Amino acid sequence: MSAAHPSDTDDVAATATSQRLEFVESKRPLVFDEIDFTMNDPEFLAATLAHPLEYAQRVEALVGHTTMGDLMPRRDDVVERFLTTWTDDELGHARALAELMRHLGLEPLDLDTFSPPAHNQWISALGRASQSMHDVTTTIWATSGAMNEHVAMAAYSRIDTMLQERGEIALHETLFRRLRAHESAHKSFYATYATETWARLRPWQRHLTRFAIRRTWAPVGATDPSDKPAFARTVLALSPDTWESELVQPLQAMAERILDLGDDRPLDPFVERAVLDCFDALAA
Ligand SMILES: [Fe+2]
Ligand SMILES: [Fe+2]
Repeated sequence: MSAAHPSDTDDVAATATSQRLEFVESKRPLVFDEIDFTMNDPEFLAATLAHPLEYAQRVEALVGHTTMGDLMPRRDDVVERFLTTWTDDELGHARALAELMRHLGLEPLDLDTFSPPAHNQWISALGRASQSMHDVTTTIWATSGAMNEHVAMAAYSRIDTMLQERGEIALHETLFRRLRAHESAHKSFYATYATETWARLRPWQRHLTRFAIRRTWAPVGATDPSDKPAFARTVLALSPDTWESELVQPLQAMAERILDLGDDRPLDPFVERAVLDCFDALAA
């Protein structure tokens, strides 16, 4: 099916995407001044959540400062609108987590001088030169976006459960419940958009997209070898016994659902490999 000849299926997919976009734009925002940082047991929280908060605050600031639009110079209005709200959301999450860390005596990372990785310029140039390559880049962005938002959602969900079990209701009600809901909304948009764009790719574009995701996907904020131990520490703090069912299996299933070649060919276990890489980096 070609992008140049929209069909009824394309229309249905586009409608699903625009509904997801409207949901992202209309969800309840995280308002910094409304966050209640009252805690019963900050010492316990600092000891238990130091690694997850350090990882999450760094990643939120990192993605918020990475001008994702540069990766997709021919982006459509849907992506433009999503990126506007999404960037605001992620920077708001980073600010809230940084403040929570200060309350706990932890030091947040300052990324105000951050500049995006150099290879983003090459991806951008490729997309400017070729619409076909731009479509591949966009599908990779949306698929890995859905996977990484699941990582964020699972982490905040786990932290939120821990807070409720400890009676830390203020943080649950005014911060982590909202963070979890935001990441869920982001994930839903990315997954729907990835499914829509994948349906329009030609076979060679699909093979290239699949190849790139299988070979390059790493948990958000853990692409560089030096950052992998931080992700492993976070997993061990939040889900030492359940990371396979809470992370690996849903991420692998999501990738296989989106990147379906129509012949039931499963993907190799690239998600598990990526997570194990992080554990190996921690052990090294
Ligand atoms: Fe976030
Ligand atoms: Fe997000």
